[in-house]
Amino acid sequence: MRAKAWCGALAGMGMMLLTASAVVAAQYDHEIKEQKMTFAWKVDGNTLAVKMSAQTEGWVGVGFNPSKEMKDANYVLGYVKDGKATITDEFGDSETSHVSDESRGGSNDVTLVGGSESGGVTTIEFTMPLKSADKQDGAIDGGGENVVLLAYGGGRDSFKTKHNYRTALKVNLATGSSQKAK
Ligand code: HEM
Repeated sequence: MRAKAWCGALAGMGMMLLTASAVVAAQYDHEIKEQKMTFAWKVDGNTLAVKMSAQTEGWVGVGFNPSKEMKDANYVLGYVKDGKATITDEFGDSETSHVSDESRGGSNDVTLVGGSESGGVTTIEFTMPLKSADKQDGAIDGGGENVVLLAYGGGRDSFKTKHNYRTALKVNLATGSSQKAK
């Protein structure tokens, strides 16, 4: 009896958690669709909440405010392997590459909210500070325009594979308006 009661209570808690995350997932203010990739977000005080999704079984990523091409941008990449989501906080160390903030003596400042891979579509949800204490993380302007890089890799669950698709947009994070960066 006792075991049954516990099972019931745990199932109930599971339902509550599921309901809570479903409610959170719906709470994005803006969304951009670019070919096979979607970027949705909400600015909440000093925090940016993001849901990114792409037609890939590999990584999906976003980068903010490069100085040139990929250089100096503040990146977050994620993939889902065997049902488990992994994300990484990265820095654009050249015009065509990125490395983890941690490998440069910085810190991982992104928080995984959830991830899924289904029907060849990978979705990652996370939150990040608009400005962290890590000097690898360039500031993001939650009240105005930023250059936003969107990209996804293909095939393998690895952060080393190059993109199958990438684009650079000018996005006003407050209003949701966007245009190609060049
Ligand atoms: C290991 C991962 C990556 C590799 C090896 C890589 C490599 C490269 C290379 C070689 C280029 C030069 C142009 C080309 O061949 O397309 C490039 C351009 C670009 N990459 Fe990446 N990249 C990676 C990840 C990312 C990520 C995560 C993003 C954004 C979320 C991104 C966004 C871009 C953009 C927007 C360009 C075009 C820049 C411009 O022409 O101004 N890349 N990348």
